[in-house]
Amino acid sequence: MKIVLPGGTGQVGTILDRALTAAGHEVTVLTRHPVGARQVGWDGVTPGRWTEVVDGSDVVINLAGRSVSCRYTAENLRAMMDSRVDSARVVGEAIAAAARPPRVWLQMSTATVYAHRFDAPNDEATGVIGGSEAGVPDYWAFSVDIAKNWERAQAEASTPATRKVALRSAMVMSPDRGGVFDHLLTLARLGLGGPVAGGAQYVSWIHDEDFVRAVEFLIDRDDITGPVNLAAPCPLPHRDFMRALRTAWGVPVGLPATRWMAELGAFAVRTDTELLLKSRRVIPGRLREAGFGFTYRSWEPAALDLAQRVRLSRRAPRGRVAAKPSHS
Ligand SMILES: NC(=O)c1ccc[n+]([C@@H]2O[C@H](COP(=O)([O-])OP(=O)(O)OC[C@H]3O[C@@H](n4cnc5c(N)ncnc54)[C@H](OP(=O)(O)O)[C@@H]3O)[C@@H](O)[C@H]2O)c1
Repeated sequence: MKIVLPGGTGQVGTILDRALTAAGHEVTVLTRHPVGARQVGWDGVTPGRWTEVVDGSDVVINLAGRSVSCRYTAENLRAMMDSRVDSARVVGEAIAAAARPPRVWLQMSTATVYAHRFDAPNDEATGVIGGSEAGVPDYWAFSVDIAKNWERAQAEASTPATRKVALRSAMVMSPDRGGVFDHLLTLARLGLGGPVAGGAQYVSWIHDEDFVRAVEFLIDRDDITGPVNLAAPCPLPHRDFMRALRTAWGVPVGLPATRWMAELGAFAVRTDTELLLKSRRVIPGRLREAGFGFTYRSWEPAALDLAQRVRLSRRAPRGRVAAKPSHS
């Protein structure tokens, strides 16, 4: 298949590009800074020559968006919103104008659309959309608004020949340097991988292999449209999540951190505590109903596999992710 990845230079794009190219597909990445033959320039806002790669493609998977790992200043929040809504809108325009539109458009969204919640898991049918929870900072509602507007930009696009799916993804865990797992592992290795603010908040996650398999599944399943949760079936409290990560790497202790310590730490590394403190309890209702089977349902074996691959890749030549070890 011809697959186009707008915003495919980041963490998730690297995972998909690697897997889909290895599977024999022809992958083209849209980026603001193209390098090499497989990358094409765009600005994520306006139609241009890049629309020619969308016309005649089979699949578009739009991943573009300003990184959410930053201080949530007014300026950054605006950039987070605009880069997502604008890119989804212009991808929709390119598909609408194509003589040979792709048969499916997967649009990245986020599990953050659901409410900060402890009592029950959120699936697509019964889940509570966030934004009006009591007792959380007001600005957390903005992340939910971003997700809603992002999904709306896709839903409102008029692409009658192209099936549309919004990927409400949890954190994608891969062994790549600079990815979410790498950051968490670094904290754990420094002895800082203890519970934060009590650690009762839920962590939703998905192993990179299952993420790729779910994307392939959704490409194939012509009957699935609309929002789909991409999250392993067993989200768990942050304290248990970090304990399993420490065990996987062999770190005996992890210092607990109070909310205040987390605020200071987040300030120091220019990120935001919402990423740590919001309880994301999300389960894959629609994927499960559709018969998708996860290789990594629970976090402990997933963390072991990821830690093993990090160890192998750090021994491999720089920039290469080591081949998958057997986990049988
Ligand atoms: N990583 C996760 O676990 C996760 C989970 C749920 C949802 N998501 C969402 O999935 C998407 C991809 O995640 P990721 O981790 O791969 O993100 P990432 O590493 O930050 O990469 C996103 C890409 O978007 C492009 N981009 C950034 N700012 C842009 C702008 N203003 N206009 C147009 N393009 C821009 C960049 O490409 P160029 O600089 O090359 O143009 C960048 O490589 C993001 O929208 C993210 O919010 C990620």
